[in-house]
Amino acid sequence: MDIINRLPEERYNEVDDLLTFVGIYDDEDRTRAYEAMLRRHRELIEGKVVLEAGCGLGVFSAEMARLGARRVYAVEVNPLLHALAAETVRGHSNVTLVQGDVRSFEPPEEVDLLVHDFFGQMLYDEELYVLDALRFRPARVLPDRALLRYGWARAESFCDDVVTPAVLKKLEGVLVSGLFEDEERYRFFRTAAEWSWPGGLLRQPNDLSGVGRPTDVLYFGLEVLDGEHLVGRSGCSANWTYVFTPRAGDRFSVDFEWNGRFMESVFQWI
Ligand SMILES: C[S@@+](CC[C@H](N)C(=O)[O-])C[C@H]1O[C@@H](n2cnc3c(N)ncnc32)[C@H](O)[C@@H]1O
Repeated sequence: MDIINRLPEERYNEVDDLLTFVGIYDDEDRTRAYEAMLRRHRELIEGKVVLEAGCGLGVFSAEMARLGARRVYAVEVNPLLHALAAETVRGHSNVTLVQGDVRSFEPPEEVDLLVHDFFGQMLYDEELYVLDALRFRPARVLPDRALLRYGWARAESFCDDVVTPAVLKKLEGVLVSGLFEDEERYRFFRTAAEWSWPGGLLRQPNDLSGVGRPTDVLYFGLEVLDGEHLVGRSGCSANWTYVFTPRAGDRFSVDFEWNGRFMESVFQWI
């Protein structure tokens, strides 16, 4: 979904975010996996104070209310999503809906559990950084771990009549999501970066010297974890797709930089 008419910047950004984030509810596998995660941790919710950081439509806040939370703080920065979440949590008197940036929110009591989906396609290229800048310290965070994984393959196993090897070559240094079909569950061989709570982001060196030759496609994907339980994985959840780039060397770096609105990934062959 793209906005195609000119709008004032603020209106554009709030509608653009709304369209981006409502799209995640198409991914029913993700919704079911999150609900299963919440049920698995019922003891962290029942009778407890919980918070959903960036509650979107409020689906998981309502679920935690149903699972018996004493209080659910559902915090959403986007005014349009906040208004839609109000509909979802209507009737749950144990939910307090807050409109604003969770980084400036000061809960009036200790938070036992914080639930979020701040994961970007390349792990840290959306809002995970927000969790490093909270004014409170939740006792637990779920999901509490995610890996940016990668693998390599020969172009002929991906390329088709549209994205030919010649087209692929022109994309050197460019990360493209959805370049090839996500049908298969591609194998990951290595981890480029890992995020965990409370540890934060860790990047790994990426040196492919002597491995995977001759291959000409590199693909990245996400594994979202609750401890050892897999909550989502590229290729299984439509929300987290694979990201492809032509292989153009043996060593590369993946970094993340603030672009004024969100963290974006910075990728280069070294
Ligand atoms: C990927 S959606 C997840 C929505 C919901 N938690 C779910 O999993 O269905 C991320 C949500 O976080 C919101 N968000 C992003 N940054 C935020 C911030 N700093 N404070 C509060 N909400 C934020 C976005 O507007 C969006 O609704």
